[in-house]
Parts: sequence; C-alpha cells; structure tokens
Amino acid sequence: MTPETHTLAPAAVADIREIKARYPVAQSALVPALLRVQAEYGWVPPETYDGIAELLGLDTEVVAEVASFYLLVFTAPVGRQVIQLCTNVSCLLAGADAIQAHVEAKLGVKTRQTTADGRFTYIVAECLGACEEAPCMLVGEKRYKRLTREKVDEILDRTDS
Ligand code: FES
Repeated sequence: MTPETHTLAPAAVADIREIKARYPVAQSALVPALLRVQAEYGWVPPETYDGIAELLGLDTEVVAEVASFYLLVFTAPVGRQVIQLCTNVSCLLAGADAIQAHVEAKLGVKTRQTTADGRFTYIVAECLGACEEAPCMLVGEKRYKRLTREKVDEILDRTDS
C-alpha cells in the first residue's frame, strides 16, 4: 500500500465518530480510534494522525505521542502475523527464556523486528493473562499456552505459511 492511500476511509471516519460518542472525554477515545485505523491498514500510518486528531478534537502531537507510547499500536508496518511472547515472571519461571531463544533463532529476529519474508513481527510482551498455563504467546489474537519448542515449531510452521 502506498503512503498516498493512507487516508481515513469513510467507514473509519464513521466508526471513530461513533467511538468518540461513547466517551465523555475525547482523549479516552484515542486508543480505540488508533486501533480502528490499525484494523484498516495493519498499522497506524503517521499521515492519519491529523485526521484522527481532527475527528477527536485533539492536537496531532497528542495523537502521535499516544500512538508511539502503546506497544500494541504499530507506528510502522508489521508482518502478516504479530507474535507476542510473554517473558514476565510466571512465564520466565516456566521456561520462557528458552522459548524466547528458540523463537528468535527460528525466525532470525529480535523483539519488534519483522522477518525478512514479512510473515511475522515478533514482540517480547508483558503478561498475557494466562500465567497459570505459562509459558504462553499470542499469534494474532490467538493465545497459545504451555509452550514447548516443539509446540512453537508446530504453531509457527502452520501459521501463514
Ligand atoms: S506472566 Fe506470562 S502470561 Fe502472565
């Protein structure tokens, strides 16, 4: 997709207006609005910041700051699948460090990098809310638990190959 096409589509504009109406304070609608744009492009192109700001009645700088602050708002293009691997304490105690090393070696990337073939963007993440079944990761919106190296291989080999 070329940069010139990164404008807010009419459906996104309507959705952001609807999102704004749900919140008493416009700034509270900002992250949902950013995620709505991300749903459109897979990331939030900076050239959409002005449009988002105008719709929410905020400064463009505020939109840019919030977009760059949140881990799950992507301010650069990402792979077709986003992997989030938890390395917080419960997962670490259950072997997440070995899983992390395995994923990084298998994909040839470090955190916040995208594989050369564009399949995966890999992110070392905070707790994913499945501590009782650690170690775990998200691939897209699907959560995988009790990971082993073999399970990681099986998941990644069948995802978007
Ligand atoms: S610490 Fe990994 S899911 Fe909670």
